[in-house]
Amino acid sequence: MTLCGDSGTSRKLNSRCSGIPVPDPGPLPTEPPRVLITGGAGFLGSHLCDRFLKEGWRVVALDNLLTGSVEHIAHLMGHERFRFIHYNVTHYLYFAEPIDLILHFACPASPLDYAQFPIQTMKVDSLGTLNSLGLARAKGSRYVFASTSEVYGDPREHPQKESYWGHVNPVGPRSVYTESKRFSEAMCMAYHRHHNLDVRIARIFNTYGTRMRLDDGRVIPTFIARALRCQPLVLNGDGSQTRSFCHVDDMVDGLVRLSVQDDLNGVVVNLGNPEEVTIRSLAERILELSKGKGGIERRGMPGDDPARRRPDISLARHLLDFAPHIDLDTGLSGLIPWVQEKLKAELKNR
Ligand SMILES: NC(=O)c1ccc[n+]([C@@H]2O[C@H](COP(=O)([O-])OP(=O)(O)OC[C@H]3O[C@@H](n4cnc5c(N)ncnc54)[C@H](O)[C@@H]3O)[C@@H](O)[C@H]2O)c1
Repeated sequence: MTLCGDSGTSRKLNSRCSGIPVPDPGPLPTEPPRVLITGGAGFLGSHLCDRFLKEGWRVVALDNLLTGSVEHIAHLMGHERFRFIHYNVTHYLYFAEPIDLILHFACPASPLDYAQFPIQTMKVDSLGTLNSLGLARAKGSRYVFASTSEVYGDPREHPQKESYWGHVNPVGPRSVYTESKRFSEAMCMAYHRHHNLDVRIARIFNTYGTRMRLDDGRVIPTFIARALRCQPLVLNGDGSQTRSFCHVDDMVDGLVRLSVQDDLNGVVVNLGNPEEVTIRSLAERILELSKGKGGIERRGMPGDDPARRRPDISLARHLLDFAPHIDLDTGLSGLIPWVQEKLKAELKNR
């Protein structure tokens, strides 16, 4: 608004209007920006809560604790800029306060979890996405969606670029997850195109680190826990299928860059670590680093297990200056003592 024919700030205008010099009170106090993280008590969500708090944001974590745990955010309870809401994002969402950024991360993410909760998985990445997009529209928030490398299915293009449309079985055992992620991506783009919502889609490749559940079936915590219990590490088939594993600190760094940078409206970007390993060589590294004595066993291949997975991260490098720094050996060496402590605590609590 312009007063006294001037286009400057109101503080400057006051001094001009009255003729009395006003001492400069310094920068006006500003409210920290506010982020809502759905799935905030999960593995990635809780690390994102930590990081946004560290950056000075107000953080609201919303979670129904389907696959997450309050343990992951217990250290944040009582923090003046943190709030936890126990809620299901597939239900109607209302917030009185302003929200600058919404990160929709609620969704079971391991194949065991989404096999156990197929309908909840499809609901959270359809109704949950719709509700959180609607809230973003109502609040004028920026919106970041946690998509996945699974949208590429069992890929025929390698490494996978964002332009690849995927090779997906729409009715296979993974389809509850894959197809709802693809549906959510389409919904995000509809809000972007139709409502001009500032939407960003992160296609997240396998990520590992502390706060993963040891029983959720994801390969790294499963292998480490079995190695430390002197049990054999079990490969699907001969273990020649490949994956690329990104340390959670690198992933969170990429996600924060994607969230805070301007001019990325409508961007779809791979985030992950392009270092590709076979599952057999991963098992061998874990046995060596954890001094596991149980050896390696084989079993049959589960349905739709992709043969190769490696992100092409050229776009993330170009747009976000994203570069993962933590190599697999360093990341595994840091994670093994954490798993060891978890196992000790489990034994004590029996
Ligand atoms: N970790 C990975 O390697 C990876 C890879 C690709 C994509 N992602 C995506 O990142 C997101 C987070 O994954 P994660 O590994 O942290 O999984 P996670 O299971 O640890 O976290 C998901 C969280 O969402 C919560 N949740 C589930 N349904 C909900 C609902 N209806 N309402 C509210 N909360 C609900 C769970 O309780 C849990 O805390 C997911 O969307 C997942 O698809 C993760």
